[in-house]
Amino acid sequence: MPKDFLTVADWTASELGEILSRAQTLRELHRAGERPQTLLGRTLAMYFEKPSLRTHVTFEAGIEQLGGHAVLLRPEQVGIGTRESPRDVALNLSRWVDGLMARTFSHELLEQLAQEASIPVINGLTDLLHPCQAMADLQTIAAIMEPGEAVVAFVGDGNNVSHSLMLLSAVMGMKIRIATPQGHQPAVEIQRQAEGIASSTGAQILLTEDPFEAVIGSNFIYTDTWTSMGQEDEAELRRQIFAPYQVNQKLVEVAPEAWLMHCLPAHRGEEITSELLDGGQSLIYEQAENRLHAQKAVLERLLVATPPT
Ligand code: CP
Ligand code: NVA
Repeated sequence: MPKDFLTVADWTASELGEILSRAQTLRELHRAGERPQTLLGRTLAMYFEKPSLRTHVTFEAGIEQLGGHAVLLRPEQVGIGTRESPRDVALNLSRWVDGLMARTFSHELLEQLAQEASIPVINGLTDLLHPCQAMADLQTIAAIMEPGEAVVAFVGDGNNVSHSLMLLSAVMGMKIRIATPQGHQPAVEIQRQAEGIASSTGAQILLTEDPFEAVIGSNFIYTDTWTSMGQEDEAELRRQIFAPYQVNQKLVEVAPEAWLMHCLPAHRGEEITSELLDGGQSLIYEQAENRLHAQKAVLERLLVATPPT
């Protein structure tokens, strides 16, 4: 089993299936008012270079509900690369806490922290990947149908969220179609990695520039912001480029039964209309809820020697 949770591509379908199953149990327990104390006395450091609502609250609440504690670190306090090297930060944290969750711009920095640290490191989003989001999305999809049967259409930017969704689909043998404008396709290295994994799992991956081709007959339609954190200067240009990729009534008419997904935060009226976000087919708050449970299952998996099942 990997030490860290940096990308779903490091994990097998069977391992991710076990995490999913535990996440489902944790959700039921939580809703029944039960708080199993499986991480009693454990401490998680949380480091954020970018803003967050969901990731921050679900990791902090998650570890505390399991009996542990979270310590929030801000980049201006820690000064990775200015006040102190990534290696010294990782080696210090490894002496004090049981795990590190980090949201960084650079994926390479996250990998470096993980390589230097003896404690588990969890990816809370980088410019490249968002694996915790993908696990919550898997839990959301699995509550509706067998993931292996699901056809998922991602429409919009070939960004961190689409990368992790594509890799997760590859590992879990799902069918994924990704529609992006030219120049905004998923990164070639991620495409190659996903296709390599898919060749042994039976997953089907389709990349297209046509949102209708991606969406027709799909079970889930997923979108995300056109302007990710760190790209704010390009927002106006991106609004123009991505306008034909808006998830709206006209697009969903080719998959009228499809469920709608968004990792949030949403830019209502840009990548998706408010009418659809708030409509009966929307799963956005299920996804947000499942962040808590999927991450608690990841924390248990990484922070205790024999995780509960
Ligand atoms: N979906 C997600 O990661 O939300 P935050 O940026 O608020 O953590
Ligand atoms: N792609 C978005 C996801 C936010 C959760 C971003 O990186 O800003």
